[in-house]
Amino acid sequence: MVAFCSPYVPLPGDWRNVLCWNKGAHVGGGGDRDTCWKRDWEMICVSRHAGALAGGRDSAVLNFTSLFAKPSGHFAEKPVALMEYLVAKVQAKRVLDPFMGSGTTGVACVRLGRRFVGIELEPKYFDIAVKRIERAFEDQALFADLPKPEQMTFEGAEA
Ligand SMILES: C[S@@+](CC[C@H](N)C(=O)[O-])C[C@H]1O[C@@H](n2cnc3c(N)ncnc32)[C@H](O)[C@@H]1O
Repeated sequence: MVAFCSPYVPLPGDWRNVLCWNKGAHVGGGGDRDTCWKRDWEMICVSRHAGALAGGRDSAVLNFTSLFAKPSGHFAEKPVALMEYLVAKVQAKRVLDPFMGSGTTGVACVRLGRRFVGIELEPKYFDIAVKRIERAFEDQALFADLPKPEQMTFEGAEA
């Protein structure tokens, strides 16, 4: 498991690695300029049970420029390249994102050919995610004969 965590609350769980996502110099301009360093990074925790990592032993500082404007309209849209890196690095074959937002993890999974299940509370973000994932699928399908993604609902929930 990989989780984006706050450094300001006690960390639940059993983590093997704590990574620093360096978002880039354009981030974190707010707050008290006299007493605060810029908050231009985010903490990413990697479970002790994530298994073997792919490739070499990388730096724990991940330099992926955060999106200045969020194309999807979601306030916390992550860069696809960051999610692709994480999914590939932990060699995940099936991925669950229980806080899917605009579906960036799903887009990364489509690009990497991994199975993906996403859950999102807000219908407007869910709809954005579905469109982004379908679009990523269409882009991939131009080059390969892929089966169509299946959208599931919880039993009893409105379709
Ligand atoms: C930090 S954002 C995820 C952003 C995502 N990685 C992206 O790139 O767009 C977290 C999302 O979790 C959703 N969320 C919050 N509580 C939830 C819950 N209990 N179940 C499902 N989704 C939830 C929020 O609506 C929000 O869209």
